[in-house]
Amino acid sequence: MGQKIAVIGTGYVGLTTGACLSHLGHDVVCADVVPEKVDALNRGEIPILEAGLDELVHAGVAAGLLSFVLGAENAVGDAEFVFLCLPTPQGADGAADLSFIKSAAAHVGPLLRPGSIVINKSTVPVGSAGEVAKKLERDDVSVVSNPEFLREGTAVDDFLHPDRVVIGSDDEDAARRVADLYAKLPGEVLITDPASAETIKYASNAFLATKISFVNAMAAVCEEVGADVSDVVKGMGLDQRIGNKFLVPGPGWGGSCFPKDSHALVRIAENSGYQFGLLRSVIAVNEEQFGRVANKITRFAGGSVEGKTVAVWGLTFKARTDDMRDSPAINIINRLLEVGATVRAYDPAVDDSDDPRLAGVEIVGDPYEAVTGADVLAVLTEWPEFAELDFAKVGDLIGTKAVVDGRNLLDGAALKAAGFAYDGIGRR
Ligand code: UDX
Repeated sequence: MGQKIAVIGTGYVGLTTGACLSHLGHDVVCADVVPEKVDALNRGEIPILEAGLDELVHAGVAAGLLSFVLGAENAVGDAEFVFLCLPTPQGADGAADLSFIKSAAAHVGPLLRPGSIVINKSTVPVGSAGEVAKKLERDDVSVVSNPEFLREGTAVDDFLHPDRVVIGSDDEDAARRVADLYAKLPGEVLITDPASAETIKYASNAFLATKISFVNAMAAVCEEVGADVSDVVKGMGLDQRIGNKFLVPGPGWGGSCFPKDSHALVRIAENSGYQFGLLRSVIAVNEEQFGRVANKITRFAGGSVEGKTVAVWGLTFKARTDDMRDSPAINIINRLLEVGATVRAYDPAVDDSDDPRLAGVEIVGDPYEAVTGADVLAVLTEWPEFAELDFAKVGDLIGTKAVVDGRNLLDGAALKAAGFAYDGIGRR
């Protein structure tokens, strides 16, 4: 039988969690503090681009298993399980800012049903389960850490087909009850203490970021020694201890998780007396990568971008999302704007030229318009459709036939044969 669940926060994590839990047959009420967002959700409008989410939300609402309310106080009264899916932004010192989580806990504490369970789903610093428990001020409510491992763009699929479900609690019964919510899903359930569960999340994201920084650093080496990073990765990946996943070179990693979580883990380690030099280097290599791509663009623009027009394809931090949070594309664009470039950009998921992150960038609705008269084209997000565009047409429209392929997405050999100057990442 389905359980009564409240989900506090309807961002990427909360909305996906709520919709997927209703899909599993639970009775879910999602709460947010933004009235327009709740109204839109109640009208069936999904605010984010996330494959399969529309269908699950509509089905959940139609089945009477999913609803949206304004204010956590209107969601938690009946709930056996309360999921906290609130932002934990990066604070000034790099540590995650827990204030949204803490104030929500203080707010709902007096309203919770006896015996209910509060679940931290957001990525929270080690020790947060205890902090939440303190704010709840309830001896009869357990707090469980149950980190999410959802990738944007494939969040629904990741939720429904997890590699693992991690549950951290000092209360074995509460941990089992949370595990039962996921009983229909594949993947191993790992029950551990709260600190270990919280650490698993940070360690996983930091390790993945390390893989990408490693391959980006190797790409730089490949460029120097005349090797091809794609073949190098293929060769490495055949060793089953290494594998070939998450080793795609690019313009650096970004998004809402890796930057924030890697800085937070550096801070967590430092606060406990360990200087995490390796992770600091991983972050430094990433910054370096933004600069390397900006330099490639500058080189192709004739040594300076001042007064030059750079066409950019791709603004989101990766393909299949409309999210530009900590996007490498934005970082690279800002480097170019700072030294006097004109940037004209196209992204299939971005049409909001009023977004403050795009200040100074001309946003156009067509990839060919972006390249018209430009001095160089930079591909910064791996939208597959970019590879299908008509490059003869691009060649006719662009001012200088020069392409920096920050995602190794295009057929470099074909472009060179068509008279383009072409440079990718670690490609021969
Ligand atoms: C990530 C984690 O994968 C997920 O488990 C966690 O819960 C949240 O953070 P997400 O931020 O959606 O998910 O993006 P992800 O697909 O992991 O990519 C992160 C960044 O790394 C992107 O900028 C992406 O372009 C880059 N990346 C990823 C690479 O450059 N190369 C790769 O091989 C993989």
